[in-house]
Amino acid sequence: MAGKTARIDQFLLIHSARADNWREITRLADAWAGGHGKRAPLEAALADLAVVEEFHAYPGGRLLATLAERIATNDAGGTAKLARRISNGLLTHAYRDRAGEWDVHDEMAAGEVADVLPPATGETGLRRPYFEVLFVNSQPAARWPAFAAEIRRLRRPEDAFIYEPVLAGSFEDALCAVALNPDIISVVLAEGFPYRSRHDAPVLRSVLDPLGETEGPDLSALRLSRTLKRVRPELDVYLLSDRQVETIAGDPAADSVRRIFYAVEEPLELHLAILEGVQDRFETPFFDNLKKYARRPIGTFHALPIARGKSVFKSDWIRDLGEFYGLNLFLAESSATTGGLDSLLEPTGNIKRAQEMAARAFGADHVFFVTNGTSTSNKMAVQALLAPGDIAVVDRNCHKSHHYGMVLTGAQPYYVEAFPMTEYSMYGAVPLATIKRALLALKAEGRLDRLKLLDLTNCTFDGHMYNVRRVMEECLAIKPDLIFLWDEAWSGFARFSPFLRPRTAMGAAADLEDWLRDPSSVDAYEKQRAELGDNPSDETLLATHLIPDPSRVRLRVYQTNSTHKSMSAIRQGSMLLVKDVDFHTVEAQFHEAVFTHASTSPNQQLIASLDVARRQMELEGYGLVMNAIEIALKIRRAVNSHPLISKYFRVLGADEMIPEAYRQSGFQDYLAAGSTWGTVLKAMREDEFYLDPTRMTLVCGTAGFDGTQFKGLLANDYDIQLNKTSRNSVLLQSNINNTRSDVAHLIRVLVEICRGIEKRLADGGEGERAAFAGRVKSLMTDVPDLPNFSHFHEIYRGDAGKATPEGDMRAAFFNAYDASICEYVPLNGAECDKRLREGPEMVSANFVIPYPPGFPIMVPGQVLTQETIDFMRKLDVKEIHGYEKARGLKLVKPEAVLAKAKRRARAER
Ligand SMILES: Cc1ncc(COP(=O)(O)O)c(C=O)c1O
Repeated sequence: MAGKTARIDQFLLIHSARADNWREITRLADAWAGGHGKRAPLEAALADLAVVEEFHAYPGGRLLATLAERIATNDAGGTAKLARRISNGLLTHAYRDRAGEWDVHDEMAAGEVADVLPPATGETGLRRPYFEVLFVNSQPAARWPAFAAEIRRLRRPEDAFIYEPVLAGSFEDALCAVALNPDIISVVLAEGFPYRSRHDAPVLRSVLDPLGETEGPDLSALRLSRTLKRVRPELDVYLLSDRQVETIAGDPAADSVRRIFYAVEEPLELHLAILEGVQDRFETPFFDNLKKYARRPIGTFHALPIARGKSVFKSDWIRDLGEFYGLNLFLAESSATTGGLDSLLEPTGNIKRAQEMAARAFGADHVFFVTNGTSTSNKMAVQALLAPGDIAVVDRNCHKSHHYGMVLTGAQPYYVEAFPMTEYSMYGAVPLATIKRALLALKAEGRLDRLKLLDLTNCTFDGHMYNVRRVMEECLAIKPDLIFLWDEAWSGFARFSPFLRPRTAMGAAADLEDWLRDPSSVDAYEKQRAELGDNPSDETLLATHLIPDPSRVRLRVYQTNSTHKSMSAIRQGSMLLVKDVDFHTVEAQFHEAVFTHASTSPNQQLIASLDVARRQMELEGYGLVMNAIEIALKIRRAVNSHPLISKYFRVLGADEMIPEAYRQSGFQDYLAAGSTWGTVLKAMREDEFYLDPTRMTLVCGTAGFDGTQFKGLLANDYDIQLNKTSRNSVLLQSNINNTRSDVAHLIRVLVEICRGIEKRLADGGEGERAAFAGRVKSLMTDVPDLPNFSHFHEIYRGDAGKATPEGDMRAAFFNAYDASICEYVPLNGAECDKRLREGPEMVSANFVIPYPPGFPIMVPGQVLTQETIDFMRKLDVKEIHGYEKARGLKLVKPEAVLAKAKRRARAER
């Protein structure tokens, strides 16, 4: 049961373990009723659950008291029936829709089969979404049932939602309830509650410790409100005070409170405010209007004949399209931007509002909805923030959209390298020292003013999360107006986890903003300045955790995320988030970027899904993300501890994904012996890189499969889809949609595959075993070295600095259009070797991007080295963008480029 150990997954498991715990209680009760079990273990199991149950509305005090009474009166049969009903209720969520579920009657007999379909499935009629409200108060616990009944009496038939109260009597209990119960989405604080919980349960500590909360002198409701919002920013908090509410309302600390009431003067007003607060998050301005639009009898005299579906449903030949997707899709199709719809390119109505609500939800100042994926969001951001000749420090390993963005704008990329993970043929993330070195090198060349942007991927495909705040802090100490673009294509969901949020662009920007507002930041800066002196050496600057000058910092942070990758948006739904104090200076450029990249026929369903994804995350994102993390921890544990699976497969831990030097806290892994919440939190706060638990690198080379082969096997034979592979691994991702059944399926499949390997090795004799060992060795040890970016050819260096590597990639890119100045050299021929040995240098005309690993091995204008060619030759992947095997490497001929330029200059004279 929960609460006994300090295992790190414990906190995340407490919520979901409830269903298991109630199943166990049902089993114990059945055993007792059937005469083959005792009462004591049942009582002990219930006692273990007691504290956690207090933080949830269902089954609630009345049903729990009835259960306790039946046990006390030795009514084993009645106990078993009620335990079963509670357990089924928790599984099906029936209590959310059926008032009778809360009553003490109408129970199923032991052994009767429960209706396990959620009540909403197959039922028609209006369903009111259900949620829970935490009331933190100082009334004696004995009065809570009456208090809860008073709250329930406020319900009206016309209420759009229905809620149940959860009561808590202290700061600690309130924090536990909000952390453990994701159904709580509003909180009412009545001043006067104590700090300490009335319980002395280990479960409390296991929740509070990870949240880092300790008793301090300030016990006010405002402090609790701030703390709760730090854990879950999307919560609505209401404050009831019998002090001077006018004064409290004027306190800047009251920003975290949605509304302040004078005591319980107006219970109905409070009830209405709670419902309105939920409505405010539930509302989806664009989607709501699209539904209204679809219901209207609209005649269309514009393009898009598919709209309204008449051309589909009247057709003998394409009717199945309509039947497959349903009428609503066609009713909701339109090419109009009027009549209740809005224009994505120039939003003034409901898209504008939907974007503003998304900004609120994701902690940004502005949001742009993008309907062509983060591939487009990145190009938009790069185009809007950079002009020709500007320098951007860029992870060479980043998604191709950034590189193409640089080509579009004519900015000069200064490529920096991520740490290599050669044994798995993948890259990690870019060390802070590398980034600082780049900034200092530009400074030394007097080119820091040309540097505009730092462009990084967070988290990386494989799950490396930066210490975002530290990177920004230290870079701002060198260049106070540097702009940051964080490509969080994979990690948009991370906003909704209190543990991952500080490592997101918006989370870190908010923390930095708080720090900048705090007067002590100036002291910290001044102290460090005095220590470093006027002219600190680069070595000193590299060795110091630099503090920026708060008076000079311009905090300019951008984030892009593929909402479709981690939330409930339709494929290609993406957002571009802005938190930039100087946004007004680039706003026009962003509009130009929208005009450049957004289709003039954006898909309505995509926009609607972005709106709805935001609604979902604000109302249930916390629980969904907690579930995704928990599923990941379960998979990690199940794979690595299974005696058969772990013989052939393993999920890499943080210690294998991140070199020791970047794990300053000494953190090993979630599953390592001795890992506790304390060690995890220390790692989260301090380590240069942190591993997102939901991204699991499963090594399959040790089972004799390369990544592509294993991905194919899982998809074709077992209906398991995954995305990324490397030479000897595949990437498993847990998501907000995963269930424990998915984990069970995966584990069964891995067991089956392992049994197959065992049988093959046993049946095939020595020959088979030697072949297997050879295959494993080839996959696991004969791995190619990962090539670093070499350098741009001199003719593409333009006005670059002497010791800095930036270059004019755009010129090289467009030179590739002119066949007369390009050539092809076969990758595997003798000519390639000769050119490497004797020259002339080979200069890539294209981006060459193999999948996997999916980053450009060559960029336009890059000089090819032995390293690059060796890597290309060892690649055994089918898909290499920018490379035609039949023709060879496409190269530009620098001397031909120069000759052409001379000819042109002469002609112009
Ligand atoms: C880091 C990163 N950025 C951006 C993208 C592009 O996102 P989208 O597929 O939404 O266009 C990807 C896609 O895999 C990615 O891995």
